[in-house]
Amino acid sequence: MENQSDQFMDVLKMITERRSTYPPLFTGAEIPAATIEKMLESARFAPTHKITEPWRFTVFSGDGKSTFARAWAEAYRNHSQSNGTFSQIQYDKMLTKPLQCSHIIAVGMKRNPIIPEFEEICSVACAVQNMMLVAAHSGAGGYWSTGGHQFFDAFANYFSLADEDRLLGFLFLGVPKDIPLPPRERRSVDDFTRWVST
Ligand SMILES: Cc1cc2nc3c(=O)[nH]c(=O)nc-3n(C[C@H](O)[C@H](O)[C@H](O)COP(=O)(O)O)c2cc1C
Repeated sequence: MENQSDQFMDVLKMITERRSTYPPLFTGAEIPAATIEKMLESARFAPTHKITEPWRFTVFSGDGKSTFARAWAEAYRNHSQSNGTFSQIQYDKMLTKPLQCSHIIAVGMKRNPIIPEFEEICSVACAVQNMMLVAAHSGAGGYWSTGGHQFFDAFANYFSLADEDRLLGFLFLGVPKDIPLPPRERRSVDDFTRWVST
């Protein structure tokens, strides 16, 4: 049995080694359904003020990815044509990117007025981090995308979200190729921490 210190090192390694990975770096392999289920299970244990459990997920797999791609691209078309920013290249990318993934998970936040909205958003982000750590630990990967958030309000009802709820983006998931990623530059702890001890 592992001692506590080994477990601690494992958790730390999981956190520091998790990386966002993108569809061009996916192998094309499917993430096993059991991994996706474990990710969703881990979301249940995110911290949530007053136990509102605000996360709502829609998982797209198999032919569901084409269903997602069409709905996503159409939402973009409707929104961008109405304000004159439509790009055919962008539209075509939206039709193809989901097909490079193994799964796509839409991330929603179900509003509960008993606590402020920002607390609900924080809680969903905690749930997503749990999920992405489980994914990384299981050999899966991906990233949280908020690209196109300008039309999220118009697209939210597709995910059965009400006006007061929020669509918070998509997890584009796959099995990353086993290639080294560029090192990450991150601030040192001293850069973002002020200690007060007197
Ligand atoms: C809320 C949120 C939204 C994000 N949206 C995007 C996005 O739209 N496009 C993108 O390329 N990356 C997006 N990312 C991923 C970040 O780019 C990524 O986390 C960052 O580059 C750090 O890399 P790492 O996750 O490997 O540490 C998002 C991350 C978060 C937490």
